[in-house]
Amino acid sequence: MKVLVAGGAGYIGSTVASACGDAGITPVIVDSLVTGRREFAAGHAFYAGDIADGPLIDRVFAEHPDIDAVIHCAALIVVPDSVADPVRYYRENVAKSVEFAGHLLRNGVRRLIFSSSAAIYRPRPDLTVDEDSAIDPQSPYARTKAVCEAMFADIAAAQPIRVLSLRYFNPVGADPKMRTGLQLARPTHALGKLIQAHTDGVPFQVTGTDYPTRDGSGIRDYIHVWDLAAAHLAALDRFDDVLSGPVTSTAINVGTGDGTTVRELVTAFNSVVDVPVAVTEAPRRPGDVAGAYTRSERARSELGWQPRYSVVEGIRHSLQWAAIRDDVLAG
Ligand SMILES: NC(=O)c1ccc[n+]([C@@H]2O[C@H](COP(=O)([O-])OP(=O)(O)OC[C@H]3O[C@@H](n4cnc5c(N)ncnc54)[C@H](O)[C@@H]3O)[C@@H](O)[C@H]2O)c1
Repeated sequence: MKVLVAGGAGYIGSTVASACGDAGITPVIVDSLVTGRREFAAGHAFYAGDIADGPLIDRVFAEHPDIDAVIHCAALIVVPDSVADPVRYYRENVAKSVEFAGHLLRNGVRRLIFSSSAAIYRPRPDLTVDEDSAIDPQSPYARTKAVCEAMFADIAAAQPIRVLSLRYFNPVGADPKMRTGLQLARPTHALGKLIQAHTDGVPFQVTGTDYPTRDGSGIRDYIHVWDLAAAHLAALDRFDDVLSGPVTSTAINVGTGDGTTVRELVTAFNSVVDVPVAVTEAPRRPGDVAGAYTRSERARSELGWQPRYSVVEGIRHSLQWAAIRDDVLAG
């Protein structure tokens, strides 16, 4: 089997490509390297360029006519940037995805897996979501994901392509074999800031302590990126069963089903490191949300997938990766 991974030189796409390779599936990568890293595409067929570039995508399919499915991870993903520059985000994430869809249809693609996000949901009061939860994106970034899902569903209803949207929760960790991980030196999510605080020997700030959670801090569903990659393998395997007959598009949550609060994340982090990180408290930052976790069983029942790694293992792999990232990316 051969799979085109758009955005395959990014954090998640490169992990998916490694998981494909390990499973005997050949990944072909297209990535503009706007945030991705060429080093992450090493060892795979790689095309540097944009998903909206028709001649490039035609060349990929001319040189790989045996591509069976496409995994579309290519997007810009920084929420505050999307608030500051929504035109860029709609152009990059929505307009280019429309163009990409046209190029895929022209090249006879029948299976598309789309990287969507749990950020499109309005959580219930208990902060859980499932695939039937209300769609209510809280940022331009999240809205680009919801718009793309709806757009792909319309296209799949009319054209001979089927689309599976995987709604990721909060990826952490790195490839357990340390081939790839988060390319950013200073990630802005809670685990990234914890690692930074640990490295710098300064306290970690819990921003927001009055959320309706068990300890007042925000809650997330941390999914190990290797488990996330494994969900794509399961999706490829089960694609024709999940999307058959009149079902031309659907969405499945990919999370652990367990919520972890920021304070619990700190406790887990301090159980792994030598010198524990101290904590200070601060008010919520503008745009912060309480968070959510999945209570859906669809990924388990329909894809036969379940997460294998704990939050502690995700933290351990993130720390291991942070220690070698500069060497991997420099070399
Ligand atoms: N990281 C998260 O927390 C998270 C959560 C939910 C969903 N997602 C989705 O997962 C996907 C991958 O995210 P990531 O965390 O790996 O981000 P990333 O920035 O590491 O990866 C995105 C990749 O896409 C490439 N790219 C962007 N626009 C492109 C274009 N027009 N043409 C070709 N390549 C392009 C970038 O160079 C990069 O390699 C995104 O679609 C994102 O919306 C991410």
